[in-house]
Amino acid sequence: MSTIYAGLVLDTPESPFDGGELRAEETALVITDGVITFRGSLTATQSQSPEAEVVHLEGVLLPGFVDTHVHYPQLPIIGGLGMPLMEWLDDCALPQEAKLADPEVAQQVAGDFLTGLRLAGTTTALVFGSHYASAMDIFFAAAAESGLRVTSGLVVGDRLLREDLHTTPERASTEAADLIAKWHGVGRLRYAVTPRFSLATTEKLLTVCAETLASAEGLFFTSHINENTDEIATVGELFPQSGSYLDTYDQFGLIGPRSVVAHNVHPSKAELARLGQTGASVSHCPSSNSALGSGLFPLAAHVDHGVRVALGSDVGAGTGLNLIQVGLQAYFHQQLQPGGYPLMPAHMLYLATLAGAQALDLQTVGHLSEGMQFDAVQIAPRSGSTLSTVLSHANSPADTLASIFTLGSDADVKQVWVGGDLIG
Ligand code: GUN
Ligand code: ZN
Repeated sequence: MSTIYAGLVLDTPESPFDGGELRAEETALVITDGVITFRGSLTATQSQSPEAEVVHLEGVLLPGFVDTHVHYPQLPIIGGLGMPLMEWLDDCALPQEAKLADPEVAQQVAGDFLTGLRLAGTTTALVFGSHYASAMDIFFAAAAESGLRVTSGLVVGDRLLREDLHTTPERASTEAADLIAKWHGVGRLRYAVTPRFSLATTEKLLTVCAETLASAEGLFFTSHINENTDEIATVGELFPQSGSYLDTYDQFGLIGPRSVVAHNVHPSKAELARLGQTGASVSHCPSSNSALGSGLFPLAAHVDHGVRVALGSDVGAGTGLNLIQVGLQAYFHQQLQPGGYPLMPAHMLYLATLAGAQALDLQTVGHLSEGMQFDAVQIAPRSGSTLSTVLSHANSPADTLASIFTLGSDADVKQVWVGGDLIG
């Protein structure tokens, strides 16, 4: 049985950073078994699928959002303002992360986190996990139940965190192997090898990470990089033989097309060149970078070096899960620096959707063309809301999209689908 969804559909099938444009069409999509099997006028879709139910969607239909960097344990501590990275980790993030040793806490936080993603219109996420294998088992089970596309993994560190968050190379290896065997490739779940950051990982542990990454097909690698100048200086002292922060991962074979490194606010030219050459992706997390005072992201330099960039909310340092709002912060970051990349609404939509899908190697997610999965979010503001008023005055689809990125929030997310399933 098929369903036809008809309405104003906005997406970016090609990257606007490579000449692609915003596609805006009053159109209809035939969905069969979760896939867009036909796209055309309502009349054409109805003659193609005469028995299909027709659903008219008010507002705008966008591809589901893809969050490439978000910490599940940190949801309850959003809003810890006034601290730079290392102080925020010690005073805010790590005490919260220690609480996930308790399975009841992990269960509650996992549920709240996945609900939060769904309410924000996020359909796919690369999720920074917990330091506890028990909390990861609980999270993967809840993620499978949620219907979202989730890539995640056990976070590992063996120095300079709290003692109760430290692992050993041996334990990291067996716990990751067990989680991969149980969850990697199950439904919409995949596993990501996740050292917290090289500041907190010895060479022995990074060696184990590399072995884990090579242990199964389709695994991902994710971590943090070049976020804060004090952090970068410490990493330089801890790895005197490494040429750069990137090199602390790269020398272990952890950097490639299935690697997503978060932040990269302060990269060297050599690091950008290497990221471009390896096909790794950078998760740009502007609201977190503002909240922690980490700096302004050099997007133009990433584009110049051919580095793939997508968006991350970086909750809990980030100020919320909603990628519309993160997209606006990305725009502000470019506006606020000399030589900042002139982001247009199409760039913001691309960064929040297709760019993330590409970073996560999900080839049938990120736009709403025939043959793609129906992962979508309906944006329909309440009548009387400022966004609804502004949209009624929009002169073009680009205006409509700009207004959504400027004013939109969870309140405007009406329905969310993943693989054709209505999940919210
Ligand atoms: N670097 C290491 N851990 C973290 C974290 O939890 N958040 C951020 N923003 N940076 C980190
Ligand atoms: Zn992070």
